[in-house]
Amino acid sequence: MDKYILAIDQGTTSSRAIIFAADGTIKSIAQQEFPQHYPQEGWVEHDAGEIWSSVLTTLRDVFNESGLTPADIATAGITNQRETTLVWDRNTGEPIYPAIVWQDRRTSARCKSISQDNELTSYITEATGLLVDPYFSATKIQWILDEVDGARDKAERGELLFGTIDTFLIWRLTKGQSHKTDATNASRTMLFDIHRQQWDERLLKAFNIPAAMLPTVEDSAAEFGSIDAEWLGHPIPIQGVAGDQQAALVGQACFEKGMAKSTYGTGCFMMLNTGETPLKSSHRLLTTVAYRINGKTHYALEGSIFMAGATVQWLRDGLKLLSSASESEALAKSARQDSGVFLVPAFTGLGAPYWDPDARGAIFGLTRDTGINELVAAGLQSVCYQTKDLQKAMESDGARPTTLRVDGGMSNNDWVMGFLADILGAEVERPKVTETTALGAAYLAGHQAGIYVSVDQVTRQWQCETRFKPRLSKGERDQAYARWRDAVDRTLSRLT
Ligand code: G3P
Repeated sequence: MDKYILAIDQGTTSSRAIIFAADGTIKSIAQQEFPQHYPQEGWVEHDAGEIWSSVLTTLRDVFNESGLTPADIATAGITNQRETTLVWDRNTGEPIYPAIVWQDRRTSARCKSISQDNELTSYITEATGLLVDPYFSATKIQWILDEVDGARDKAERGELLFGTIDTFLIWRLTKGQSHKTDATNASRTMLFDIHRQQWDERLLKAFNIPAAMLPTVEDSAAEFGSIDAEWLGHPIPIQGVAGDQQAALVGQACFEKGMAKSTYGTGCFMMLNTGETPLKSSHRLLTTVAYRINGKTHYALEGSIFMAGATVQWLRDGLKLLSSASESEALAKSARQDSGVFLVPAFTGLGAPYWDPDARGAIFGLTRDTGINELVAAGLQSVCYQTKDLQKAMESDGARPTTLRVDGGMSNNDWVMGFLADILGAEVERPKVTETTALGAAYLAGHQAGIYVSVDQVTRQWQCETRFKPRLSKGERDQAYARWRDAVDRTLSRLT
């Protein structure tokens, strides 16, 4: 019998279930969006019930569509939006508060106050590889325990459990049998020592979080429990788990030190495999767990930028310059070359390597002949310039990416990918299968299930669809990038 692998990809705006054949080709896909909740300025929440029902619906749909049954599935993998924080009652399984999403800024003040403590701040970066920021889970858990009535007492009594979304899904799918996460997800909580690969007691104390709430941390390919037969009519073992950006790194077969991938979704996350030694960034990049397989940890440097596809969304829905995102390619192609227009998409501040939450978006270089095409092109180019910022920061940390593989919605835009290669001065590779996040989770599960005996098999399955080569001269590239940096300098808040 052919072996199929099920991947659940629980993202920030939608849930997907994909069935892969063992050779990495897609058999069938189901997707469902779910609501975003913004109860206050800067707050972003998800309803755990809505996430759960979107996952169940896509699981059922993917089987209906494929003609396969759960009995045809050898193993399942889970990948998820990272950092998003949920606390639930161990006995009832009910969340005590909505999921606080990674984008949520409500704990900014708490983070600013931690940053006053130089010793603690350096300890956090040393142990976790992260920068103190509301992005990560620790201050979100603390907020829930402090603000939800009775939560702290219940947590002290061991009645509450914490999980990122992978953990919550594992818990629900196994009907409360398994409270686990993997090392990649743990590494985004700001509570996990990435060197010793364990929860950090000093940080648990600093954030006042009882250890009993935390899940057990497994390898990314491990035994996470079994999807209970109640959900799909047949049990399926869950054997692969990784945060979505790390899963994409695996799906892109970036297993060698120096290989990098960039995923263009709402935001953009560029991740560079640095091998078995964590590389500490001096340029405000994050050091994180890339994957842990057979007890061996690989590390990555990561740069996160907040606005990639979201910039196109703004051009479409905010400015109404486009009727669909795909229209942007044709408009950009007919834009005046070298228009001198630069759009800095600091709509919610700037992420790596600037980390300026107070910066706000700006457009520079408008002239009388600037039109819609030039504005759209500048919006698209901003994504490439921001990737260049990350590439530069990585290089300054002594880690030049040898390969850059791209995925995510915007990677399908040839004009953007061509400009990306131009501005990076490096080749950009787009794979045949761009569902790399789900594919990574499937590969991890398949590895644990013995379908793949080594990562080399995954490497052999990766296929390039298009290789974009740089066309600009070094002089042209440097000049364009210098103008971008000037635009960013003029956008940064004076508070930093
Ligand atoms: O760190 C946040 C990231 O994991 C979210 O990814 O694709 O769900 O927006 P995505």
